[in-house]
Amino acid sequence: MSKLSLSKEKIKVVLLEGVHPDAEAMFRQDGYNNITVLKSTPDDNELKKLLSDTHILGIRSRTQLKGDILDSCNKLMAIGTFCIGTNQIDLDVCNQRGIPVFNAPYSNTRSVAELVLGEIILLLRGIPERNAKAHNGQWLKSAVNANEARGKTLGIVGFGHIGSQLGILAEAIGMRVKYYDIENKLPLGNCQAVPSLEALLPQIDVLSLHVPATELTANMITAKELSLLPQGAFIINAARGNIIDIDDLTVFLANGRLNGAAIDVFPEEPASNNDTFESSLRQFDNVILTPHIGGSTQEAQLNIANEVADKLIKYSNNGTTASAVNFPEVSLPHLHEDLTRVMHIHINQPGMLEKINRTFTSQNINIAAMYLQTKDNVGYVIMDVQSESSDLITEQLKKIDGTIKVRVLH
Ligand code: NAI
Repeated sequence: MSKLSLSKEKIKVVLLEGVHPDAEAMFRQDGYNNITVLKSTPDDNELKKLLSDTHILGIRSRTQLKGDILDSCNKLMAIGTFCIGTNQIDLDVCNQRGIPVFNAPYSNTRSVAELVLGEIILLLRGIPERNAKAHNGQWLKSAVNANEARGKTLGIVGFGHIGSQLGILAEAIGMRVKYYDIENKLPLGNCQAVPSLEALLPQIDVLSLHVPATELTANMITAKELSLLPQGAFIINAARGNIIDIDDLTVFLANGRLNGAAIDVFPEEPASNNDTFESSLRQFDNVILTPHIGGSTQEAQLNIANEVADKLIKYSNNGTTASAVNFPEVSLPHLHEDLTRVMHIHINQPGMLEKINRTFTSQNINIAAMYLQTKDNVGYVIMDVQSESSDLITEQLKKIDGTIKVRVLH
């Protein structure tokens, strides 16, 4: 259990793994100046030392925040992952210790949608094959298998952030767009919902997958589904590597049932840029292969920096936890200047609110506003109170059985 009632100058911010410089700039602009920025992550011993008095930590995907590394974070208030995934963090432990984790799940939506749009145009024109041949000294000047995208039908599976953005872009170049989503999704523009995957596949020229990795989407596209596509269709996967059965796709490309594909994600991907990329798809000139870079653009990096830094600063400044991945989500108004904000993080168990309330009543302190949210094992109560004796309240709140953290803002 710890008390955190710190001024911005005392809050130690650590940004690792070469997080985009805009993140540091945002903290400084907001009055935080105790900031350590490192291009990489130090070895475990150095890291433990560095994190032992860190309040706000920003990482990307490589820093593993688990086990004894997490144990060394005595004062940690919040974590930001300046990327999409959060697998590198033990989210349950962070939840139990009252540490919200923030990420930027949709900062690269546009980057993926733009790449896929470009791939649709290139595939329909037969460019990947002509490009490969030209690199080999061959001149494939012909209009055979070269088509405009205008008037063709794009089938989108998963009409979420990326799928719907792609639908809008594809319509703008004159494509017809049909989609299938497991949820009832509002059609945008002239995009048309189709009730099932089986109903969608025979109607389209290009299939693009934009679903998450779940039990239902693993091997969603096998020989059975591929055989429902019209002769000469194209398939694009910039979602997750296990959604298409690559062996089946290889057969359908080899026998000419499909005219091409663009694949950005694979069941097994090289661990680093120094490792060789192995895939049965390497043999096909009409397949665009990209190294999982659908969302990797400068713009996405900048969006990520802004989004995650903003969430960390908001949490630190006023307690807002909206869109935290492991923590009760609360959007809080600015704190009125006459009030003190007391934030109580506790084990989610019966009777906590009553004990917290009693603490204030016993001190004759009026609560002007109160917010409560729970998630999993943790409850988060925020009270704006008309009192300046925050030390006394904090001490009493700390004594309540089940308290994880108490933080006070003036
Ligand atoms: P999202 O959560 O906004 O949308 C996913 C959509 O899929 C939702 O509308 C959901 O209802 C639907 N869905 C889920 N299960 C389904 C099923 N079994 N059948 C049909 N529809 C289903 O996600 P977002 O941001 O659009 O991302 C989509 C995919 O793109 C994810 O797999 C994500 O990991 C991947 N991605 C890949 C990147 C890359 O670098 N290649 C970068 C960013 C995201």
